[in-house]
Order: sequence, then structure tokens, then C-alpha cells
Amino acid sequence: MPFIEVAREKLASYNGKVSLHQADLNTDDWAVLPPGPVHAIVSNMAIHDLGSEEAVTTTYKKAARRLEPGGSLINADLVTRPDDKEPPTDGKLKVPRHLELLDHLGFVDVRCTLDFGHYACVVGRKDRF
Ligand SMILES: C[S@@+](CC[C@H](N)C(=O)[O-])C[C@H]1O[C@@H](n2cnc3c(N)ncnc32)[C@H](O)[C@@H]1O
Repeated sequence: MPFIEVAREKLASYNGKVSLHQADLNTDDWAVLPPGPVHAIVSNMAIHDLGSEEAVTTTYKKAARRLEPGGSLINADLVTRPDDKEPPTDGKLKVPRHLELLDHLGFVDVRCTLDFGHYACVVGRKDRF
């Protein structure tokens, strides 16, 4: 079952207090999202599909623009294993590089919450200041 459907089921009891929107990561403005800042941006195994570190960085920049202060970015994705000597040639970055990008973009509380080697979750919050 797609991740967004799992999320819809899990959050159904919140009775409309949560709304989920699916954006095309490649569009400039993520126009499907409601206008104004959003509380959280969540992605599962999609951002690496954009194919490059540049595309990952662009996506993180868009997320920083669309999040409310204190809002969360949660990206669970395929990554390059830490012991892999070759630099990634696609969007599967190493976890420390994800964390570095988020840190450079001004996210706070940046950390990896789960790491299976090939699949990891990185999170950060938009600074309130
Ligand atoms: C491995 S699937 C994961 C699907 C879903 N996120 C889940 O967890 O069930 C990778 C997904 O990345 C999505 N994807 C690729 N390019 C995308 C884009 N530009 N915007 C949004 N999603 C994209 C694909 O449609 C595909 O569904």
C-alpha cells in the first residue's frame, strides 16, 4: 500500500485536523499544497528518484521555503552505504551528506532517526528565527 494511504489510515482518527497533499517534487511551487506555510513535509523513497545531489538540494530548499517556522522535514530514503568508496552518481547520498545539506540550509535539530545502511531517515526542523 502506498505510504500516503498508510498515513491517511493512521491519521483518520484526527477527523480533518490533518490534511495530506501529494506534490510533484519537480514543480517549482508545489502548487497542490495549500497556500502559505505547511506543518510538515514527509517523503518516503522518492527524493533519491530525482537523480542527483543537486535535485536533493533543490528539494530541501523548496521544503525550507514552504515550511512554517518550527515545521518538520522528514525524509526516509534510499542512501549510499557509509563504507561505499565511490561517490554517489544518483540521488542516493550518504547520510552525513544529507545532514550537512540540511544544516547548511538552516534546518535545526538535524539528525538521522533510522539507518539500515541502504535506507535511512533524516529529519530537521525549520528554525523559528
Ligand atoms: C519506491 S516508490 C515509493 C512510493 C511511495 N513514496 C511509498 O512509500 O509508497 C518511489 C516513488 O517516487 C515517486 N517519484 C518519482 N519522481 C517524483 C516526483 N518528481 N515527485 C513526486 N514523487 C516522485 C514515484 O512516483 C514513486 O512512487
